[in-house]
Amino acid sequence: MNDSIPELQSDDIKSMGLYHHLDRVGNEVRELGRIDGEPLLADELTAFDQLHYNGTEAVDEAVLATGINQRSSVLEVGSGIGGPARRLASTTGAAVTALELQADHHQMAAYLTERCGLADRVTHVCGDVLNHRFGEERFDVIVSWLALYHIPRRGLLLERFRSLLPEGGFVYVEDLCERDGFDAEEREALSSELFAKHLPDIDLYGHEFIEAGFDVVRCDDMTADWTAFTSSRLEDYLNQSERHLRVHGEAVFETMRTFYSTMVAHFSSGKLGGLRLVARRT
Ligand SMILES: C[S@@+](CC[C@H](N)C(=O)[O-])C[C@H]1O[C@@H](n2cnc3c(N)ncnc32)[C@H](O)[C@@H]1O
Repeated sequence: MNDSIPELQSDDIKSMGLYHHLDRVGNEVRELGRIDGEPLLADELTAFDQLHYNGTEAVDEAVLATGINQRSSVLEVGSGIGGPARRLASTTGAAVTALELQADHHQMAAYLTERCGLADRVTHVCGDVLNHRFGEERFDVIVSWLALYHIPRRGLLLERFRSLLPEGGFVYVEDLCERDGFDAEEREALSSELFAKHLPDIDLYGHEFIEAGFDVVRCDDMTADWTAFTSSRLEDYLNQSERHLRVHGEAVFETMRTFYSTMVAHFSSGKLGGLRLVARRT
């Protein structure tokens, strides 16, 4: 392994509230009313296992944009608790490798996938995309939702993407970006509250892919959509506070309320943006 490749940052990333309380996932599964180990359907989990914006719609968008089908092999980078990977596998039959940095999220993801009967199509792997050993493995498509902004060293990341794809292979990414210059204090807050390590503006984002040997097929500005999404997510959460306090208790409720409010504040400031990029390896 190259000595200069950074070590895993799975503890540092816990500075972000979204990653504090994995128990909320267990609480939601219990709320479905199943006894331990009883089979689950991937569709039953989508209200809480999609840790990005617009839920399964955003995953279905990737299928449309890249032509993922039952013969495809797909790598998801930063797969969280496995929601998008299960959606991809259950709707298309593709073979999905779901790579996740945080061990607790990885374990929960594998547990849920097993209970959904999808372990033959989704392989969960715990590791850092910057130094994970893929060996001879190659993929037709790489997908990622709200994970790449956590990862420093974009040059190295895209070099890895390129080496994992054939010529013409697709990358589909949904990610945060910068819209209007952050000052030093804001950068510090983003680095801790969101564990933001790479936030170029939308033009530079595409440019970095081109420089790394990709054609950018599409790069959509999602800011207005995600500003509206995060506002109604907070409103819905507060409207259902009684339910959430009953299911999760005070600590989870407060953490999630604070996290959702933080995202509303960042998007409403006009400085944080979002994008959806589709690229092909040249
Ligand atoms: C906001 S979550 C989104 C999870 C999933 N993509 C989804 O939409 O449900 C981003 C995930 O990326 C993971 N991640 C961050 N840096 C990573 C890295 N270097 N390698 C692999 N996963 C990483 C985080 O641990 C986190 O679970």
